Amino acid sequence: SQMKEQYRPQIHFSPMQHWINDPNGMVYYNGIYHLFFQYNPYSSVWGPMHWGQATSKDLIHWKQQPIAIYPDSLGTIFSGSAVVDKNNTAGFGKKGQQPLVAIFTQHDTVGEKAGRNNFQNQSIAYSLNEGKTWTKYTGNPVVKNPGLRDFRDPKVMWYQPQKKWIMALSAKDNITFYSSPDLKNWTRESDFGQARGAHGGGWECPDLFMLDDNNTQRWVLVVNLNPGGPNGGSGTQYFIGNFDGKTFTSSQKETKWLDYGPDNYAGVTWSNTGKRKIFLGWMSNWIYANQVPTTIWRNAMTIPRALKLKHNGDDIFLVSQPVAELSLIKSNTVVANSVIISKKMDLTKKTGVVKFPCSINLSMDQIKDFSIKLLNNAGEELVIGYEKKGNQYFIDRTKSGKTDFEKGFSARHFAPRFAVGSKMNISLVIDVSSVELFADDGLTVMTEIFFPNKPYNKIYLLSDENIVIKKLEYTSLKSIW
Ligand code: FRU
Repeated sequence: SQMKEQYRPQIHFSPMQHWINDPNGMVYYNGIYHLFFQYNPYSSVWGPMHWGQATSKDLIHWKQQPIAIYPDSLGTIFSGSAVVDKNNTAGFGKKGQQPLVAIFTQHDTVGEKAGRNNFQNQSIAYSLNEGKTWTKYTGNPVVKNPGLRDFRDPKVMWYQPQKKWIMALSAKDNITFYSSPDLKNWTRESDFGQARGAHGGGWECPDLFMLDDNNTQRWVLVVNLNPGGPNGGSGTQYFIGNFDGKTFTSSQKETKWLDYGPDNYAGVTWSNTGKRKIFLGWMSNWIYANQVPTTIWRNAMTIPRALKLKHNGDDIFLVSQPVAELSLIKSNTVVANSVIISKKMDLTKKTGVVKFPCSINLSMDQIKDFSIKLLNNAGEELVIGYEKKGNQYFIDRTKSGKTDFEKGFSARHFAPRFAVGSKMNISLVIDVSSVELFADDGLTVMTEIFFPNKPYNKIYLLSDENIVIKKLEYTSLKSIW
């Protein structure tokens, strides 16, 4: 039946039908989290982009809404953001109404085919009924293309110290910042990116925001990159630094990745959530997003994640954790203390039953090799673990089920462990066809999708050396549909 198909995520947003990619226009307003997304309403592969929409009161239960923004003569609707125009700077509000304003790329397919270099331009639209219907501004486009084939994905925020809007825009393999008093007239301020971070592919879907670090304000620039991600294809890097209303600066030397798994792309944060920063990404990778073995719909979003800054050694990181609201769907939590794993333990030994979707949290005071295996009755397995040699976490989907739709899909992926010291904690969010690993309070994160021929129904914990799990928590998660 609907929303129960094989592989249909039960605790993640996916569209009832057809194709989605990037999350767009994420804005919180009047108690509702809006999630727009790149949507092809005609088929389950990428095509003419519209903004689809879903809404949620709690970031967990989603209701798909009618299409929000349609293509027009300026082009299809590519990625972008949305803001609450509280001071009615653009003048779209009537009689004290607060408009929502969406800022997005229009992609002119005709211009692209004709070989022109200016087919991506930035446009705006507004809504006076909390996102239900949108009206495009008659003066579109508001940011014209200077002659770059890749010029897109505007992410806009209000910069309070100078009372102006700031747009981060991807321009080939750079981020260009613009400012505006009214969302209509934009001035180019600066560029960031040459010789900084990873450049294995184009820079896309940026996000600029401030986070509090023990009363120091730091700025974070998130930059999505495709290809060139840490485990191939699409990936998300970030820079921690400063922003003065004009220029973003960062003394960061190494490339930092928000997620090391292959399946978290184009993620950005919700606007209008105050100090809380909530991130969500598209749970796929451009290498195989069009080939994954689902039919009625294709692709889903990650679990929303709370972002924070964390000091670790002499360094500072952007860490992710599932939002606290995930606890709304927790049921039957089983906690076991001082669990000894020697060789192999079926989790039902401690929990009685194991159901999917579920969440598992482990903490220990020893750093030793171990793994967690999801298994089914077809002999397939998905393995998540840690290796002391190399000091790395891994997720292995080589025997996870259907992998032959793309040659690189069958792989074991690694992520460095950054935490120092002898305490380790890991948290897993496991759905029917995905796993999200948050290790060491979110210092190392990995997101992976998989497609078993039979649903996974067992979980084993394995370790060659005896290992003591100080606290083991298992919780099944109720379907959101
Ligand atoms: C990223 C992206 C964006 C673009 C959109 C098109 O996944 O390529 O740069 O706006 O997808 O659907």
